[in-house]
Amino acid sequence: MKDKICVITGANSGIGKVTARELAKQGAHVVMLCRNEEKAERAKEGILRVCGHSRVDIVLADLASTQQIRSVAENINQDYHKIDLLVNNAGLMTDNTRSTTDDGFEMTFGVNHLAPFLLTQLLLDKVLASERGNIINVSSEAHRFASFDLKDLQYENRKYNGLKAYCSSKLCNILFTRELSQRLPAHVVTNSLHPGAVASNFGGGVSSFFGVVMKLARPFMVSEEKGAETSIYLATSEEGFTATGRYFKDKKVTNPNKEASSSYNAKRLWEISEELLNTEFLPRKMVTQ
Ligand SMILES: NC(=O)c1ccc[n+]([C@@H]2O[C@H](COP(=O)([O-])OP(=O)(O)OC[C@H]3O[C@@H](n4cnc5c(N)ncnc54)[C@H](OP(=O)(O)O)[C@@H]3O)[C@@H](O)[C@H]2O)c1
Repeated sequence: MKDKICVITGANSGIGKVTARELAKQGAHVVMLCRNEEKAERAKEGILRVCGHSRVDIVLADLASTQQIRSVAENINQDYHKIDLLVNNAGLMTDNTRSTTDDGFEMTFGVNHLAPFLLTQLLLDKVLASERGNIINVSSEAHRFASFDLKDLQYENRKYNGLKAYCSSKLCNILFTRELSQRLPAHVVTNSLHPGAVASNFGGGVSSFFGVVMKLARPFMVSEEKGAETSIYLATSEEGFTATGRYFKDKKVTNPNKEASSSYNAKRLWEISEELLNTEFLPRKMVTQ
């Protein structure tokens, strides 16, 4: 990983922190994209203590704000000549009360899907500048429990359920990866993954029934180290640079469910995301490259 520049979102905690630490230990220049400066500094100190070099940076943005995403992307684009690896890892789950991002998007869809969609778009030129670019999207087996509805991705017309919204957003991660892989030039790959049921901070603030289940299940969950293994595998293995558009679990290609394997769903989600963000991302003309 020496001389590789890796941008990792949600790198101050859980799976993202371990991914950042382990890649830094292998010599990577790690850029931690976090929303909380204090937490980010603490995590950075821990990484610096073990990685053997000082190429660990923090950039700050709340992914619930497209304005902050645009501003952090501008800073990254100014400061780094290329990005070899982008790990869209940050994610959240909410309670059963529907909340929205700064831009008025349903929070889970906004942070878990629209934010990585926009960030990837804004950083893409730097990923294309890498000899072998790699974009990893951290999804979940939870996608199998989604009540996926392309006409109501933001739970405007249904009773809001935080867990259901989360499952749907993780299905979006797989569809996004699928469509992105079709539009990228050959030297850039993208894959999604399930990290396992990980005893991280995830769901810690959720007070609904599911939050209680998460707390009770903690002793049976795998460590954050184990949870980061598939992300690290995709970032460092030969397969991580040859496979594209695939979904991994336990470091192996796995079939996601039918809805996540649908080319129609992937294309429509892309179009809807472009419309919502008022942007055009990897237009069809690049598909032929
Ligand atoms: N844990 C599991 O069992 C499990 C299972 C399947 C998939 N996953 C996926 O794995 C990924 C990492 O989760 P984790 O288990 O490591 O949980 P975690 O410890 O809670 O880490 C989540 C990270 O995302 C960041 N984040 C959340 N909302 C953000 C926002 N609006 N802007 C910027 N950053 C934000 C958090 O920042 P703060 O620290 O500031 O909150 C934190 O750094 C998530 O995408 C999750 O969906 C987890």
